[in-house]
Amino acid sequence: MIYRRCGRSGLQLPAISLGLWQGFGGSASHESVSARCRRAFDLGITHFDLANNYGPPPGSAEANFGEVLRRDFRTNRDEILISSKAGYHMWDGPYGSFGSRKHLIASCDQSLARLGLDYVDIFYSHRFDPDTPLEETMGALAHLVQSGKALYVGLSNYPVAAAVRGAKLLQSEGTPCLILQPRYSILDQQVEKEGLFVAAAQNGIGTICYSPLSQGLLSDRYLSGDLTASRASATGRLAAGMENEAGIERLRALAQIAEARGQTLAQMALAWVLRRPEVTSALVGASRPEQIELSVGALSRLDFGADELAAIDRLAFLAEDW
Ligand SMILES: NC(=O)c1ccc[n+]([C@@H]2O[C@H](COP(=O)([O-])OP(=O)(O)OC[C@H]3O[C@@H](n4cnc5c(N)ncnc54)[C@H](OP(=O)(O)O)[C@@H]3O)[C@@H](O)[C@H]2O)c1
Repeated sequence: MIYRRCGRSGLQLPAISLGLWQGFGGSASHESVSARCRRAFDLGITHFDLANNYGPPPGSAEANFGEVLRRDFRTNRDEILISSKAGYHMWDGPYGSFGSRKHLIASCDQSLARLGLDYVDIFYSHRFDPDTPLEETMGALAHLVQSGKALYVGLSNYPVAAAVRGAKLLQSEGTPCLILQPRYSILDQQVEKEGLFVAAAQNGIGTICYSPLSQGLLSDRYLSGDLTASRASATGRLAAGMENEAGIERLRALAQIAEARGQTLAQMALAWVLRRPEVTSALVGASRPEQIELSVGALSRLDFGADELAAIDRLAFLAEDW
């Protein structure tokens, strides 16, 4: 595993981290969740990313991962970074969502109970809340660190200007913003165009990019053009243009570039995200341990020639409607 320093912090993250958003919740067996987490850890993936609402049902991924921690990682807590988040709908009523102090602190307590932990390593505000003063949300994050419930804090899905202002507020509370968690892939370059990576670097903040495989779309199994069994199609969140033959043709062309590099399409997609020095980690999901092995295999070829990058850019396009 390659470990990269997270911004100007003392913390290093694995270049590949494992997220438990989909496929680790309710219906997944302990054996299946455990096998993927153990394989990841054995490959040097020391970071596991969760959120209050991961499942389905919401909360079940944290509960399942808590069981894995108890049964399989009992002696490894200090070798592992665990993150959680609050901000998307978790429970009914006015306190079950968004960025109030009430929601963040209650949700963190609930996550700790499900995980069976005294603290998480990173706690995120999961989304920007336009109706709550940023001072309140950042104050709640700082409070979680000061009360020992989180070691570090981060911001996910924040517009760049709000992230920068949030980081300054956190700094004034004595709790630096460790990390930003945006969505970023060959098929979704929006945050790069908005200047997120430049802003993160200027402020000494690391970044961990989620859905680097566009939820599995950037993988060889979609090249047949049959998307019906895909996770992306099941969640109804296909990247713009991918429902049609032209989109599949672009995937095939990207796969050819990957093949010439000696990589699978998924491996090239991960290497592409990690090509930016501001990216601390690529945050993948996985339905099988073998996918994690393949993803880690991407690290053996992270360099890109200017011609390769230009060819990928020609094929890439924005998926504004995700
Ligand atoms: N902050 C946020 O708002 C937010 C939002 C979304 C996600 N996230 C985080 O990011 C994590 C990853 O998101 P994601 O699951 O969308 O990421 P992703 O890595 O883009 O997609 C994962 C899917 O890709 C397929 N796959 C994985 N490795 C593969 C490989 N080596 N070769 C071929 N196919 C492969 C699998 O699809 P199949 O399951 O179909 O086999 C897997 O479930 C989440 O678990 C979560 O922690 C955060």
